[in-house]
Amino acid sequence: MSLSYNYNYPGIDDLIKKAKAKIPKFAFEYLDGGCNEDINLYKNTQELRAVELKPYYLRKHIEAKLDTSLFGHVYDAPFGISPIGLQGLVWPNAPEILAKAACKHNIPFILSTVSTSNIEKISSLTEGRAWFQLYHPAENEIRDKIIKRLQDVACPVLVILSDVPTFGYRPRDIRNGLAMPPRMTLKNILQIMGRPEWALKTLYHGQPSFQTMKPYMPKDLNMKQLGQFMNKTFSGRLNEEKIAAIRDQWKGKLVIKGIASEEDTEMAIKLGLDGIIVSNHGGV
Ligand SMILES: Cc1cc2nc3c(=O)[nH]c(=O)nc-3n(C[C@H](O)[C@H](O)[C@H](O)COP(=O)(O)O)c2cc1C
Repeated sequence: MSLSYNYNYPGIDDLIKKAKAKIPKFAFEYLDGGCNEDINLYKNTQELRAVELKPYYLRKHIEAKLDTSLFGHVYDAPFGISPIGLQGLVWPNAPEILAKAACKHNIPFILSTVSTSNIEKISSLTEGRAWFQLYHPAENEIRDKIIKRLQDVACPVLVILSDVPTFGYRPRDIRNGLAMPPRMTLKNILQIMGRPEWALKTLYHGQPSFQTMKPYMPKDLNMKQLGQFMNKTFSGRLNEEKIAAIRDQWKGKLVIKGIASEEDTEMAIKLGLDGIIVSNHGGV
């Protein structure tokens, strides 16, 4: 068995340290922070750490393999990159960088509805393999247009999100001026000045914006109007009827993300969904 080590970043802690040094505090904390007092964020980690693998040393040895067959594709690992909104704020061009890396390493990449790249670009960068996560918009017409774009690029998997019925309460974002509507403070400007590579790259790539949603947004919104638009557009929540309508239209694999109860799991199976991602949303 051959092992290759990453000597620069042997542990996740090393990567976190590096990210903190390169990303302005408000953007780093957007990604790193959870809701309220981060309780669920720690709970998630603790629960994963509590998983114990029990080895049976004396049985016949079977070589361990990570590759996993899912929805007709063999991935190199049983995990992928989950959808994150506003990725371009964390690092300029982040969705494109992550999508390409996921494609190269043959793991799933899920583009968020509110990421800073669009369906068409990410699909072409990943040879049509990227998955897409849909926040159900209040207007069915926007949903249908998004689904049509996904069919046009032959997206293989649509992930619909069953979400809490409000924006998460994220104290760090509020402190950092990132709660909707965002506001740029002197503190943010000083943080940007302390991270010149992030600043120059952001200048080069342009201010991050919701690229997939762009065709449905009025032009030249100020920050307050943007907040109101996002609030209104994503006040639509999933329910049985909406899922059934999507199932009728969508010919690819349909996965639901965020299910947290047995009742909802049963409903998802009844509605003909192909998979469930059990995860909570941003540490809510
Ligand atoms: C900053 C941030 C933004 C997120 N944006 C989205 C999103 O746009 N769509 C989505 O389905 N999930 C979103 N999530 C949730 C993640 O996809 C993931 O389900 C959650 O972080 C739980 O996984 P973790 O315990 O590995 O963090 C976001 C999470 C964070 C921290």
